[in-house]
Amino acid sequence: MASSTLICETQPWKDLKSHVEDIKKTHLRELLSDTDRCKSMMVDFDGITLDYSRQRATPGTMDKLYNLAETAHLKEKINRMFNGERINSTENRSVLHVALRAPRDAVMQSDGKNVVPDVWNVLDKIKDFSERVRNGSWVGATGKALTDVISVGIGGSFLGPLFVHTALQTDPEASKCATGRQLRFLANVDPIDVARNIAGLKPETTLVLVVSKTFTTAETMLNARTLRAWISKELGPSAVAKHMVAISTNLTLVEKFGIDPNNAFAFWDWVGGRYSVCSAVGVLPLSIQYGFTVVEKYSTPFEKNLPVLLGILSVWNVSFFGYPASAILPYSQALEKFAPHIQQVSMESNGKGVSIDGKPLPFETGEIDFGEPGTNGQHSFYQLIHQGRVVPCDFIGIVKSQQPVYLEGEVVNNHDELMSNFFAQPDALAYGKTPEELLKENVLQHLVPHKTFSGNRPSLSLLLPSLDAYKIGQLLAIYEHRVAVQGFIWGINSFDQWGVELGKSLATQVRKQLHASRVKGESAEGFNFSTTTMLTKYLK
Ligand code: F6P
Repeated sequence: MASSTLICETQPWKDLKSHVEDIKKTHLRELLSDTDRCKSMMVDFDGITLDYSRQRATPGTMDKLYNLAETAHLKEKINRMFNGERINSTENRSVLHVALRAPRDAVMQSDGKNVVPDVWNVLDKIKDFSERVRNGSWVGATGKALTDVISVGIGGSFLGPLFVHTALQTDPEASKCATGRQLRFLANVDPIDVARNIAGLKPETTLVLVVSKTFTTAETMLNARTLRAWISKELGPSAVAKHMVAISTNLTLVEKFGIDPNNAFAFWDWVGGRYSVCSAVGVLPLSIQYGFTVVEKYSTPFEKNLPVLLGILSVWNVSFFGYPASAILPYSQALEKFAPHIQQVSMESNGKGVSIDGKPLPFETGEIDFGEPGTNGQHSFYQLIHQGRVVPCDFIGIVKSQQPVYLEGEVVNNHDELMSNFFAQPDALAYGKTPEELLKENVLQHLVPHKTFSGNRPSLSLLLPSLDAYKIGQLLAIYEHRVAVQGFIWGINSFDQWGVELGKSLATQVRKQLHASRVKGESAEGFNFSTTTMLTKYLK
């Protein structure tokens, strides 16, 4: 395939377009009755089992999808990414977040330079700093140990660390290392979020981490200034040196802000914000909370096969079936922040309208990702998934609970209760329930249409043996790579995010207006009728 050819113009894409019409004639009930097919759709890797037999696909579909991946030069693109080539062409950057998980002796190059030693220099610095904070040898301005941390950042400088923190919180090994410590995240510029974050904390025992790749993000910088004022007011301006550190690629702006560059933890422009959880962005706050040894386990390298399967299946669902959304449904409360994190990783990466060469795409890319842990989601949006729109689902289950409970007299232990639902839902979606089955159960005739489930709704299941730091890291890497695979096949740049810029610049214009109105009483000008009216109401 020539580099300027769109993937939808290739023969394998066209083959899949006609193949999907055949598959549409086959109900999942039928597909699931073929045991050999199902066997071929179960994969084990490093303790994780992937079962994709409930996808609307046959082994023949898979061959066609592999063919598509080959035509899209998937392997070469993955290699180019791992080789540090500047595949993020609109920002002229390499995409090397995989180097953040590299062992100390690995070699991964960007512009001919091995970046792994730089990664490990920062990791060593994090280990040293986090240990000093944890053991009380790094103290605040009044000589007290810093027991509480507020991590200030938004988007990729927030969602990934929040997800891992939430998942580790109830892991027995991690949680015992966190005794007596608090980690909070301040993301929203809404002053309510500041109030909630500082509630019950004292500046003298609080360490603030300012996390921003660019160190220019309006929300983060205002929140950082607000917390700097909170600290200075109580402890004096010189206390900032002991109570504020930074994580950024922009060390010049860190210093300008008033944070000692020695107290800054670097990362690099080859780490996209949403892929930065294994850099200091995630490793520093989490190491202070849980200890470096616990945290380094989530930053292990991951093999490429599961993500390739997940990636090509999602392309199948989005581009050939036309399903626009995808639900991430972990049956684990510890993974409650997984879907919000993957939402950014996926939607900021793959919601694009042009190919990597800037050609308008005649097909949609990206998917609408959302999710909620089971069984909570079952009591919320599953109605739509069962009888309304078709939404391919990823069910994620854990064999051994972080917090097992068995209540005397119950039929099963609490985790088995949860997992009963994990195993039941994919079959309910796939098989559904026919009017004939309902009539056999003596369902009243007029209720039959309401109680009928069409079934034939695709899902896949991932079963993890447990949920410790290592497994959390695996899950993270699977989904990060899944997103890259989708983007490589669609032929887009998954590593830029120009779509966030327009709203930001319009906000600048509004900010100027609000200032002019508040300070000089100027009325709103230069906006359309609707915005002028609303702004005027707000200013009143
Ligand atoms: O506005 C989107 C975005 O640029 C994300 O891509 C990024 O994760 C987030 O803002 C925060 O950016 P920064 O880490 O530079 O503050």
